[in-house]
Amino acid sequence: MSKQLQRNLDFTDMESVKILLYLVIYHSAAILTAADDQLGHSAENVHWKSLDFKTIVTWKSKGSDQIFTVLFSEVERETGLETGDWRDTLDCTQISHTECDMSNDLRYSDKTYVVDILTEDESSHDPEALPHTVSPHFNPYKHTNISAATFTVKALDNGRVMVNITDPLTTLHDMNGRQLNIRDVFKKNLKYKISYNKAGNTRMKDYISNSSVAEVPNLDAGESYCFTVAAYIPSRPRDNQLGAWTQQPQCTMAVKTPLNELSLGAWVGIVFILLTVLIVIIIVTVLCCKCCPKRKSLHTSQTSSPI
Ligand SMILES: *[C@@H]1O[C@H](CO)[C@@H](O)[C@H](O)[C@H]1NC(C)=O
Ligand SMILES: *[C@@H]1O[C@H](CO)[C@@H](O)[C@H](O)[C@H]1NC(C)=O
Repeated sequence: MSKQLQRNLDFTDMESVKILLYLVIYHSAAILTAADDQLGHSAENVHWKSLDFKTIVTWKSKGSDQIFTVLFSEVERETGLETGDWRDTLDCTQISHTECDMSNDLRYSDKTYVVDILTEDESSHDPEALPHTVSPHFNPYKHTNISAATFTVKALDNGRVMVNITDPLTTLHDMNGRQLNIRDVFKKNLKYKISYNKAGNTRMKDYISNSSVAEVPNLDAGESYCFTVAAYIPSRPRDNQLGAWTQQPQCTMAVKTPLNELSLGAWVGIVFILLTVLIVIIIVTVLCCKCCPKRKSLHTSQTSSPI
């Protein structure tokens, strides 16, 4: 081997060793970073809970004595990506508990949001390097659960029943401090599903009402009916359209007039008796007419005789 070739070989060996070294360093760094992530105790199991626009995001923490900061961002409707404009929450900066009430941050706009939960760490002063967890998407207008409504019923004449529903309140207030109900929020999109059955009949019927005071038509006058209601928002995704059903049904009283108290059997009996009476009358009349002229002649002869 020439000296020149020997040198070349040495050189390439050096290169390979260098590359190998780089690879080892690169991989250990990657392994170290991964291990670091595990040690960083980022929030886990991030969940949304929301009822009547009280919206809370919860998570689990692996470590103890962790401090969290919650940021939130809108999600663009078209792309489904966060806008990247991360905002501070009103109440959840450097907190030690594992939930954040987002109600006043998100209110009730028809927008989709996402939160980012940062785990603060004394050892790291670089906010970009903090362990963090991004939540699933959430849109309060589409996803908040709606409580059961209270309502009253009143039988009107000609087979109608008025159902008067009190719109459930949300936990939100307007500028003047008035508590908003779901009609204030959903406006025309809010309808009610009214489910009802005749007393003693298990078959339920549904009636959809656009307003909170409904008149259910086409009922049998004088009968007792029982009703339950649920808020119904057909503009929402299918699984979120119905609010909770009222647990306790409200019933109208049957109007007990002597006539509609009678059973079908009684009616058949009455008709039968009436028919019998009618037939008897007809027969008697016919018989009478046949024998009357005879009697009449007899009678006249009798009265004429004393004269
Ligand atoms: C709404 O209620 C259902 C049934 O109770 C529950 O499974 C769901 O998690 C609730 N959704 C929210 C956003 O709280
Ligand atoms: C419905 O009920 C509310 C009270 O719950 C009452 O103020 C209102 O007048 C009722 N509406 C009708 C149409 O009866």
